Amino acid sequence: MSESSKSTNITWHQSGVRADERATLLGHGPGLLWFTGLSGSGKSTLANGVARALHDRGVHTYVLDGDNVRHGLNKDLTFSAEDRVENIRRIGEVSRLFADAGLVTMTAFISPYRDDRAQARAIIGEAFIEVHVDCDVAVCESRDPKGLYKKARAGDIADFTGISAPYEAPENPELRIDTSKDTLENCVAEVVAYLVKRGVIE
Ligand code: ADX
Repeated sequence: MSESSKSTNITWHQSGVRADERATLLGHGPGLLWFTGLSGSGKSTLANGVARALHDRGVHTYVLDGDNVRHGLNKDLTFSAEDRVENIRRIGEVSRLFADAGLVTMTAFISPYRDDRAQARAIIGEAFIEVHVDCDVAVCESRDPKGLYKKARAGDIADFTGISAPYEAPENPELRIDTSKDTLENCVAEVVAYLVKRGVIE
């Protein structure tokens, strides 16, 4: 669980607009698709593919992406175990705000630790949908879109997930998508179908 706040003399203010009123205005429920998987597994590609497909159906979306968030909000964090925990804690909180705003949000972070993902699930509540982008490390390494596996093998990047740092695969994700076994189009369709089945979108 998250630590209690260090601030004192603070009061929680109720929003003047209720979440169900926002959902009515937007025309769909909130949803938080938490994509987790190795670097190169296809998290960002899949998240952005889903965002495109949903947008084209009139759904309000946003993608929070690890590489992008580490350029801004989380630019003070490294890839040490401790900083990865803080990275995911902050994203869990930001995701809660996005879900509360009513958007269907996709997060694309390696998020290698089970406990951290469980904490994000607890913070976000029923909108949370864990999607394991399940792609064998050998396939991710053969794709190596950013050349990072090569650098990690050469010892130029420390603590690289899947090579010299752990990845704890989800045991019970809502969805498991193997991007090495199906086309991007089919993977996107599977996620969209799940959102319909769950009643987040029509
Ligand atoms: S997380 O582990 O803290 O969830 P996050 O998703 O934010 O990671 O960032 C992962 C991205 O950072 C990778 O896709 C890759 O581009 C880059 N990266 C740089 N160094 C590392 C590293 N040591 N381990 C994993 N990814 C790294």
